[in-house]
Amino acid sequence: MTATDHPGSSRNRRFRGVGDTLEVSYDEFCGALAAKDLQPLWTQAAKLMPNEPIPRTLPWLWKWTTVLPLAQRAGELIAIGRGGDRRVLALANPGLGGLPYTSSTLWGAYQYLGAHESAPGHRHTPSALRFVIEGTGVWTTVDGDACDMSPGDLVLTPSWTWHDHSNPTDAPMVWFDGLDLPLAASLEAVFFEPYPELMQKSAPDHNSSERLFGGRAVKPLGEPANPRHSPLFVYRYRDTDEALEALLKERGGPAASIEFVNPTNGSSAMPTLGCEMHRLVPGQRTPPRRKVGSSVYVTFKGRGFTVVNGERFDWERGDAFVTPSWATIEHQALEPADLFAVTDRPVLEALHLYREERLTTPQEATRNFQPK
Ligand SMILES: [Fe+2]
Repeated sequence: MTATDHPGSSRNRRFRGVGDTLEVSYDEFCGALAAKDLQPLWTQAAKLMPNEPIPRTLPWLWKWTTVLPLAQRAGELIAIGRGGDRRVLALANPGLGGLPYTSSTLWGAYQYLGAHESAPGHRHTPSALRFVIEGTGVWTTVDGDACDMSPGDLVLTPSWTWHDHSNPTDAPMVWFDGLDLPLAASLEAVFFEPYPELMQKSAPDHNSSERLFGGRAVKPLGEPANPRHSPLFVYRYRDTDEALEALLKERGGPAASIEFVNPTNGSSAMPTLGCEMHRLVPGQRTPPRRKVGSSVYVTFKGRGFTVVNGERFDWERGDAFVTPSWATIEHQALEPADLFAVTDRPVLEALHLYREERLTTPQEATRNFQPK
């Protein structure tokens, strides 16, 4: 084959074989490549290097009213204990070929912990967060610090920190789990270890990280920076609410957005997961934007819709939805709404792969997503 041979038009031509004088067809040549575990780039260059991202992740939405009864049923059917450490329903994106992942980089799930149940201690290299939709009285112990969980609270279980969950109350609790598991798995960097005992021994006083680092824009003087993850393990909704309200008052709508950060150095709370809260003003549409990377949103409060690439996704309290990389997105609340979001943005920013673009023309929603 010579440089002047064009593969697309030469399928039936015959080429000189490499290193011999045999003439072979183009298909035979490709077969010879495959036999040596080689692949031609020229047949798949556009797929491998598209002009812009072509995500496999589909925009999708899961209804709280659908998931909750199934989580409750799982609570009746599935025991929890060592080896089956968690009772979790993963939000599996139909675009990802059956994988239990919500996007190509993010795991989103609802976790159910029954009354008087405990989920055993373990640690893993994938980082995780818990966002509470409803219920109270449960705590997550992170490296010995029991973090109480109430609606709207964000609890971190960063990479390789010991964590277990305890529910001493008479009522079950369901919360949202966000992990970077797909990313860690694709980097082949997943390690897991059970805690030597069933549960950690936690300090008698709960929320010690909160006492040390809680509050806005302050840190204990002299406390060393921890670049691995935020030393604050729980971000309270009362602080989130106050920050969003102040931001809206100062700047006006259509939305106020904050990121939860590591108080010792101002970076994202965890290096692989961005944690955000967005407060939307009813009746106003956010400007159309697209960004590299995916986001999983959880509706904490209110009702509204998001237009993703011309498709309208209606959401209400407890619903979760995913937006793929480089999708054009606009949010509109129909009543005051708070959307929690977990993203892969810190990874993309660290690798200088992040891009964001604000578009000028609002999208027309030409179809409505029909949730299952
Ligand atoms: Fe875990």
